[in-house]
Amino acid sequence: MPRAADLPLTLTPLTSEDAAMPLHRRLYFILRAAIFDGRLTVGARLPSSRAMAHQMGISRNTVLTALDQLMAEGFIESRQGSGTRVVARPLPPSLAAREAIPQSPLQGRAISRRARELAELESPFGRASLLPLAPGLPDLDAFPHREWSRLLARRWRRPSRNLMVPQDAAGHPDLRAAIAEHLGRTRAVRCTPDQIILVAGSQQGLDLTARVLLDPGDQAMIEDPCYGGLKGALHAAGAQPVPVRVDDGGFDPELAQRLWPEARLACVTPSHQFPSGGTMPLERRLALIDWANRRGGWIVEDDYDSDFRYAGAPLAALQGLDSGNRTIYCGTFSKSMFPSLRLGWLVVPEDLLPAFLAVRRMADVAPSALTQSAMADFMAEGLFAAHLRRMRSLYAERRLILLQAAGRHLKGLLEVTSGDAGTHAIGWLVPEADDRVAASAAEAHGLAPSPLSRYRMNPGSPGLIIGYGNTASTMIETAILTLARALR
Ligand SMILES: Cc1ncc(COP(=O)(O)O)c(C=O)c1O
Repeated sequence: MPRAADLPLTLTPLTSEDAAMPLHRRLYFILRAAIFDGRLTVGARLPSSRAMAHQMGISRNTVLTALDQLMAEGFIESRQGSGTRVVARPLPPSLAAREAIPQSPLQGRAISRRARELAELESPFGRASLLPLAPGLPDLDAFPHREWSRLLARRWRRPSRNLMVPQDAAGHPDLRAAIAEHLGRTRAVRCTPDQIILVAGSQQGLDLTARVLLDPGDQAMIEDPCYGGLKGALHAAGAQPVPVRVDDGGFDPELAQRLWPEARLACVTPSHQFPSGGTMPLERRLALIDWANRRGGWIVEDDYDSDFRYAGAPLAALQGLDSGNRTIYCGTFSKSMFPSLRLGWLVVPEDLLPAFLAVRRMADVAPSALTQSAMADFMAEGLFAAHLRRMRSLYAERRLILLQAAGRHLKGLLEVTSGDAGTHAIGWLVPEADDRVAASAAEAHGLAPSPLSRYRMNPGSPGLIIGYGNTASTMIETAILTLARALR
């Protein structure tokens, strides 16, 4: 039987990771590896801690620390009179052999069909690009960092005990009241603060909504093109996203009912279709509500960026027209504050609240109390309203500069259109162009517009989504000139 005393026990570090490790930890790994690969088999007796310390020229305490750890994890046992012996068996060959590690991370692994489908979807969450013309970002430099950090520090310096323990799965009461007031005043959303559930961005709101309202296999109508994270959330719930092509008026309920008479839910961006930019007219909104009432279906209204409208006040929400309580309204601070804040909300019909809250608790208990309370203060002190006003005029200016620059430099290459809201425009390519090739050419020139086809389920006109939220006004003209060069 091999004995530990016969092992070439050397603590000489083999890698830089080894070198950074404390000696007791290194010894623990050496002995563990010898047990796992069968050099030390069950019953093998270890030398005394004193002898090992002497052999390796380290302190006895170091050896004892390593042995204690191996003992606590069940690798060795110490009996009075018979010393310390190995009690764990080597790893079976299937676990030990390096070849057993699959080539692709998922190959041959028994994960769920749903996870496999999600892993195969093109991720909507590449690292957000900070390059000029990247869509989806607000101006990160114009954010009032100083005020925000003051509010965070104030809350954290003397946190109440309530702040340190999750209180309410629906979120901080002051913030829910502030959001209800903001939505009522600016979007004619009809709700009480109790109907608001704070979530980690609208992505979590969409995910919760799908899991509460849909069963596996249920059809959910989505706009084509649409935000990719929505498709993912529906897949994650086992539902089947089915596409309805949008036009200038966004989602067309008549076309939708003809295509998908069995659908249970419709996800729409009526104020500012994402990404193509249309606004859903009143008759379509009413027709969609009528569909939901007749069919017992649900409407998900994703109101992701309508704080920014330049042709007047923000548009009223579809939710406010729906007296039958069949609309779940979803909003986010990702565009009005910044996206890594991970704070958004759902407005949920009262009778659905218990189900939404139960599912929400299972997901992650409750949102972070610190960010919520600081956000409540930010709104209560009027800083949010002031920030929105400032950003609205900044983005209005950028939109105009972009459209004028496009008119001068992109003729014949891209026809740029922009709704009167949001922080991006669409540059339409000629029908036979490939927008992914165009986006790669732009990227090679240091720009990051997004190809429209990435957001589509069915083929459609090629185009680029051109963001101006996080591109400084002074940079836009140069960026458009560079884009023209890249496309040529
Ligand atoms: C239309 C739309 N909905 C939802 C989201 C998700 O936003 P978040 O999860 O950051 O709140 C985005 C993000 O860009 C979006 O464009």
